[in-house]
Amino acid sequence: AIPLVLDCDPGHDDAMALLLAVADPAVELLGVTTVHGNQTVEKCTLNARRVLSLARVSEVPVARGADRPLVRPLRIADDVHGETGLDGPLFTDEPRVPEATTSAHELLIDVLTRQPATIVATGALTNIARLLADRPDLAGRIDQLVWMGGSTERGNVTPYAEANCFVDPEAADQVLQSGIPFTMCGLNVTHQALVTEDVLKAFGQIGTPLAHICIEWMTFFASTYRRLWGFTAPPLHDPVAVARVIDPSIVGCVEANVVIETAGEWTAGATAVDLHHYTGRAPNARVAVELDRTAFWAKLVDAVKLIG
Ligand code: BDR
Ligand code: CA
Repeated sequence: AIPLVLDCDPGHDDAMALLLAVADPAVELLGVTTVHGNQTVEKCTLNARRVLSLARVSEVPVARGADRPLVRPLRIADDVHGETGLDGPLFTDEPRVPEATTSAHELLIDVLTRQPATIVATGALTNIARLLADRPDLAGRIDQLVWMGGSTERGNVTPYAEANCFVDPEAADQVLQSGIPFTMCGLNVTHQALVTEDVLKAFGQIGTPLAHICIEWMTFFASTYRRLWGFTAPPLHDPVAVARVIDPSIVGCVEANVVIETAGEWTAGATAVDLHHYTGRAPNARVAVELDRTAFWAKLVDAVKLIG
């Protein structure tokens, strides 16, 4: 199995990405690190612990990461994910999975010192930028970084910026410039992962309490996406990045040059993806462009089934 660390800000779609990473036999989840984003890092960490507890996982450490972007002020997405960051089903108990005594930074260093690993990042890249700044010697130990972020098209928080990139463009820029193998799963591909009625039905047929919770999360997400963007079915962004690691054929990519706009007055956080080779700049990333929806949803449904 592919050794994996999931760096996330749960978040409804992060929660589903966690379940996929926990259960799919193609990957071995070595740790979960959290970052500010959909909510404060405190709430995102609690949510990550909650999701792992629901999945009845106990050996995977959950370590808290950056509480704010590298240079910009904190900007959470409570309009999208609610007051808890994972609104929908109500939980009042303390999750069984504890918070690790080490920080996300330490966890990433520990894991990569022990063995090379893949990192999937489904939030801002603050933790990864910090890691690479502090320990450039470990860059070669990252087999690949697969990021849900950016877009080859337009944005979702400003006309041209996607949320994970917008909140910390400096971090995204530094990570891209580090030269580690980088795959970007942007809105252009995650908007192909729509939670349609048949998807909800497939989860309904699983019939477990966990599947029911997934339906409640996706239903909350649907209400947000309907209200804010007029979507009839919400895009489940983050599991796309995990699916790319599990089976690259599910998420078709092209090689392209990607730069992050950090200075633009109206476009900060935009990903300038040179799909048509206008710039002559060498490709520095794999950019996801196509999703095999059937295979993608089958992986997610199987993961939730397998957890039971
Ligand atoms: C990204 O932003 C967050 O709201 C989601 O969890 C996803 O990672 C989509 O722009
Ligand atoms: Ca996320």
